[in-house]
Amino acid sequence: MNGKGTNSAAEAIPETGPEVSEATVRLAAVTRTYGSGDGKVTALAGVTLEFTGGTFTAIMGPSGSGKSTLLQCAAGLDRPDEGRVFVAGVDLTDLGETRLTLMRRDRIGFVFQSFNLMPSLTAEQNVGLPLHLAGRRPKKSEITEVLQDVGLADRARHRPSQMSGGQQQRVAIARALVTRPAVLFADEPTGALDSSTSRDVLTMLRSLVDQRGQTIVMVTHDPIAASYADRVVFLADGRLVGQMDRPTAEAVAAQMTHLESAPC
Ligand SMILES: Nc1ncnc2c1ncn2[C@@H]1O[C@H](COP(=O)(O)OP(=O)(O)O)[C@@H](O)[C@H]1O
Ligand SMILES: [Mg+2]
Repeated sequence: MNGKGTNSAAEAIPETGPEVSEATVRLAAVTRTYGSGDGKVTALAGVTLEFTGGTFTAIMGPSGSGKSTLLQCAAGLDRPDEGRVFVAGVDLTDLGETRLTLMRRDRIGFVFQSFNLMPSLTAEQNVGLPLHLAGRRPKKSEITEVLQDVGLADRARHRPSQMSGGQQQRVAIARALVTRPAVLFADEPTGALDSSTSRDVLTMLRSLVDQRGQTIVMVTHDPIAASYADRVVFLADGRLVGQMDRPTAEAVAAQMTHLESAPC
């Protein structure tokens, strides 16, 4: 355990105004509730947080703590009830549907636990899909380059059924990166993979940050996965309850045990 930078006080996370922020992604007092009346659930309760460009952040917290909601609000897939979300300097909460769709298409990458590939298309066709949807004819070189980035240049002509789970997730990551987004969001990207395949995918994500300066924000419940990140932020009951720089799996696991046993 290093415990370095361990801090369980949400107040320790600096609140920065737009004038000082160079973060690629910034959430300011984001609140998201679902339902109404007795059935009302506060999934996020005033979360302020930023993700610096070229860094890898893991988001952890007990089940139902708001991790997926945070990611979806940050990625413009969901709209907060209150607060603001900035991606690459653009306030997503100000945008109408058309411009939000364009932001998602061009500046934001997202991968899920399930790979969501088109089964009838080859790896290179799946990767080219976002460019086709943007009305562009993809250049062979841009597809090849992004497949190389995820270590799959030799699988370009394979269909999903001809690839392992880890390879399919790499294709999904390549597809998310083909537009060269400002940020890649990943919701439990290794949740459906065995531990050795997970490690390969995490090493690849790490190298995208180190080699290409990609900004990555990943939700995970696995302390080992979180240890690949530069920083872990902890959520509980829709609130930020701590963060840890240079996390080790042991320190993250200890913090999670603490959160899961803490009374609400
Ligand atoms: N579409 C939805 N409708 C109603 N409640 C939701 C919806 N999405 C999430 N919630 C609730 O919001 C809370 C946070 O959910 P979520 O962000 O999925 O948590 P996590 O990803 O940490 O497990 C949970 O109580 C969940 O039941
Ligand atoms: Mg979730």
